[in-house]
Amino acid sequence: MEKKELLYEGKAKKVFTTEDPDALIVSYKDDATAFDGQKKGTIVGKGAINNRMTNHVFKLLEAEGVPTHLIEELNDRETVVKKVEIVPLEVIIRNFSAGSFAKKMGMEEGIELKQPTLEFSYKNDDLHDPFINSYYALALGLATQEEIDAISRYAFKVNEVMRNYFAGLGIELIDFKIEFGRFHGQIILADEVSPDTCRLWDKETHEKLDKDRFRRDLGNVEDAYQEVFRRLGIQ
Ligand code: TMP
Repeated sequence: MEKKELLYEGKAKKVFTTEDPDALIVSYKDDATAFDGQKKGTIVGKGAINNRMTNHVFKLLEAEGVPTHLIEELNDRETVVKKVEIVPLEVIIRNFSAGSFAKKMGMEEGIELKQPTLEFSYKNDDLHDPFINSYYALALGLATQEEIDAISRYAFKVNEVMRNYFAGLGIELIDFKIEFGRFHGQIILADEVSPDTCRLWDKETHEKLDKDRFRRDLGNVEDAYQEVFRRLGIQ
C-alpha cells in the first residue's frame, strides 16, 4: 500500500491517505514535544522505536481480545492502520503515583496505588487537555455511555496485559495514556503505546525509561528508548 496525500501532521506523527478509504498510513517522527508543544526537540531513533513497539504491543493486545487499528507494519517508521474517528478523550491509567497525579495529590512519585485509576482528559490543545469526568464527556457529546463503558473496559484490560508483559521485561508500568477511535461503529484502540505515552521504570533501579527524561531534562533520552526497545527483543 502507498501513501497518497498528507492528511494531518501532528507533533509526533504524520498521517497519509491511501487508495483504501478505510486505511491510512501513519509515519512516526523523531520530533518530541512537551508541555503543549512549548518544549521541542528531537529524540534520534524514536520514530522507529515507537512504531515498532506500538505494533508489537498492539498484536499482544489483539491476542487478548482488545481490538486495535493495526493493519500492517510497512517499514521501520510506517504502518497501515484502520481509518478511525478519534474519540477526543485521552484515557489515562495509573498503577503508581507519578506526574500530575503525584503533584495534585501531594504525593511522592512511585507509590503503588491500592488499585489502578482511570481518568479522562478532553483532547483539546487550546484548552490544554483539561481533566474531565464521564459526565462531562456525555454532556459535551464527546462519546456515548456505551462507548465510555467499552473504552473503560478495554483500558483496564490494556493495563492488565501490558503491566504483566512489561513486568516480564523488568519494567514497571507506572502509568500510560491511550486513545480510542470509532471504526464502523465499533470502539477500537488507536494511536500509540510507546515511551512517549507510558511511564516505564526499571523494576530494580527505578530508572526512568521514558519521555520524562526529555520532559525533565534528565539526559540519556535516546539510551532510555533504546533500552526499552532492546528488552522487547524485536530488533
Ligand atoms: P501526567 O501524569 O502528566 O498526567 O501523565 C500521565 C501519563 O500520560 C504519562 O504516562 C504520560 C502520558 N501523557 C501523554 O501521553 N501525553 C500527554 O500529553 C501527557 C500530558 C501525558
